[in-house]
Formats: sequence, C-alpha cells, structure tokens
Amino acid sequence: MRIAALRERIEGERRVAITPESARQLVDAGLVVTIESGAGAESGYPDAAYQAAGAEVAASVALGTVDVLAHVRPLPVETIGALKAGTITVGLASAASELAAVRALRDARITSFALELVPRISRAQSMDALTSQSLVTGYRSVLEASMRFPRFFPLYMTAAGTIPPAKVLVLGAGVAGLQAIATAKRLGAKVSAYDVRAASADEVASMGGTFITLDLEAADAAGGYAKELAEDRAARQRELLTPHIHAADIIITTALIPGRPAPQLVTAEMLGGMRAGSVIVDLAAESGGNVEGSVAGEDVLVPVVDGVVTLVGAKNMASAMAFDASRLYAKNVANLVALMTTDGTLTPDFDDEVVAGACLTHDGAVRHEPTAAALEAPSGNKNSEGKN
Ligand code: NAI
Repeated sequence: MRIAALRERIEGERRVAITPESARQLVDAGLVVTIESGAGAESGYPDAAYQAAGAEVAASVALGTVDVLAHVRPLPVETIGALKAGTITVGLASAASELAAVRALRDARITSFALELVPRISRAQSMDALTSQSLVTGYRSVLEASMRFPRFFPLYMTAAGTIPPAKVLVLGAGVAGLQAIATAKRLGAKVSAYDVRAASADEVASMGGTFITLDLEAADAAGGYAKELAEDRAARQRELLTPHIHAADIIITTALIPGRPAPQLVTAEMLGGMRAGSVIVDLAAESGGNVEGSVAGEDVLVPVVDGVVTLVGAKNMASAMAFDASRLYAKNVANLVALMTTDGTLTPDFDDEVVAGACLTHDGAVRHEPTAAALEAPSGNKNSEGKN
C-alpha cells in the first residue's frame, strides 16, 4: 500500500506529516512511502533525506494512486475530491469547525482518522498529537513572552545592583500549561499557576510551580478535562484571580473546554490594572481567547498607566518550531498507522478502542457522534454548504 504526504496547503503551516525518520518506520512496516517534493523543506527535511530513508519523492503526487494520505492540518475539500473511495486519511481534522471537509470525507467514502480524537489513554499516548503539539506550544509561548518582555527572567545579584526575578502566571495547567511552567522555571522566573481541575495542584507542584488555590469548587469533567463554569462562577473566578493578574509580569493562558469556546479568564478591565511592560500570551486566541481583546496572530498593545501591556494572540505556535513539532507529529501519525498495519496492508480493526475512537468517517458515514450531530443541525448544514 502507498502512503503519501503532501506539502501543507494552509498558508503559514510549516510542519509536515511524514519526516525521514517516520518514513523509515513506515517503509519497515512494508508500506511504499511517497512524498511531494519540497513537503519537508520548511521544517528542515530536504527531499534527499526522504530518499535516503527509502521514500519516493514526486514532483506531484497522483492522489488517485494513494491508499493512505497523512496530513497535518484539515484537508482542503479539493484534495478530498481527488482521492479514490476507500482511501484512508490520518491527521488533524478539526472536526468541530471544518464541517464542509467532514461532509466531503463522508460523501467521498474516505476512511478518515482524526488525531485530535485519539482517546487519551496510556496505550495511545504515542499517537496523541494534541499532547505532542501542546508540548511545543507551551514551550514556545514562554519564549515568545520573553522576547517581548523588557526585563530578565532570573534573579541577578550583581555589583551594579540586584534584579528581581520575573513573576510568571500560568492559567490552565494542562499539557501546554505544564510545559510553560517548566520552561519559565528553567529560565529562572518565579512561577505560579491555576487550573479548575482538582488534580492540577499536584501536577503544578511537580513542575516546580506554586499552585494558586481559589475559594471555588473544582470543575472536573470526564476524561480529565475541565467543565465549563456557569457565568456566576466564572465571574467569581475572575474576581479572585484579579490580584494575581495584577501581580504578574508575564501571563500565559491556555484554558480550553473541549467543543466549547475558550473561557474568558481576563477582562479588559483586569488588564488595565497590570504594570506597563507586562506581557500576556493567549494560547487560546484561535478558540475565542482567554483574554478579552486578543487577536490570533497579532500583538495588541493595551494602554495601561505609564505605558502598555503586550497581548500576544497565539496562532499555530507549533509551526514556528516546525522541525521538532513535525518530528513528534510524524511519529504520532506513524504509530497510529503501524497499529493498523499488518504485512504492509492497513486493515483498521474497529474493535480496537483507539482505532474506533479516532475514526471520523468510514464507509459513507460520520462515526464521531458529536460531529454527526453538528452536521445534522441546521447551522451545520448551512455552514457546510456555505463553505462549499
Ligand atoms: P485542554 O487543552 O482541554 O485545556 C487546558 C487546561 O485548561 C486544562 O488543564 C483545563 O482544566 C484548563 N481550564 C479549562 N477551563 C478553565 C478555567 N475556567 N480556569 C482555569 N483553567 C481552565 O487540556 P489538555 O492539556 O488537553 O489536558 C486535558 C487533560 O487530559 C488533562 O487532565 C491531562 O492530564 C489529560 N491528558 C491525558 C493524557 C493521557 O492519559 N494519554 C495525555 C494528555 C493529557
């Protein structure tokens, strides 16, 4: 069977779904690997490295000859239209928002696996792209903040005077938040963090951060995720967080609720009380934002007394570290493909909870129930038709 990866079509996306290292793993599993020429160039993987790993490099890949298509970002509808029925696709599908693509996958009878749907169980950790890419964004968010911050992170005691350490506050201590805590600690900052989940206090402490306890009940949902707070509790949370926000030099916000808009943790009014020169990186900016006024892909300068606060709206930060982000992502893809491959042939076993959980469309049907329901809803139909 032939597995292929193309150059990503979304502007600004530098990652690639198959690296030379993962190509070798796929070749060893008995697959023919075809890479579109230049697909790895922007993440630092030249065509020659793929050829050395046993892959074919093609100036243009004939999609009708592909059995498995690996991708990073959701596939464009035109690409889906060029695939033959029964093709398997593996990659991030953003099923909740890309309904037109889901409909195209269903109607073209594509068996699609969405990496964001891989169950978060121990056995599937090596295929968990949400985790691998959140690790990258959590790390990168702190570096982005440091480059905009006009001060040091560590404590310096010098002959010319003492410089106090920067105070970093992380809101939302999931995978990205914990990585942000670890990175800020390594840079020498004083780090505190807050999350609504009960388990996160120990996780924050294990990374060397100080957990902020608020007089609010924990809000855990199934699968280790957070529950959306009712508006009165969300308002109380903002009120209790305000002094911590005003005391921070750097804030990294990462809070998300699966399938819902990101919760607003910081209002414009709260921002107004921060010190000039402070920096906020909103990693949830593409999901509606944790900070009022953040714009994905832009720096917004918010006026405060004596200066401005820089509000960074994160946009695909993983792509900025494309070499390592691709290395981890491509391993996630190859591990899921390997789970379904015997003697060079992919035969998905839908009795396996990882395979069944990650499957978005198969045999002309949408198998992921929330996405199927969204497609059935009047707004889902309108949205999807609008995009087509
Ligand atoms: P996420 O990206 O859905 O959300 C990020 C963080 O925001 C979460 O920690 C969440 O509790 C927090 N949050 C949501 N609303 C908030 C609010 N109003 N205020 C403050 N914080 C808020 O979460 P992520 O990083 O995907 O992790 C979700 C869970 O999955 C965690 O429990 C994590 O430990 C678990 N996990 C399990 C894995 C496995 O077993 N294979 C792999 C990776 C994560």
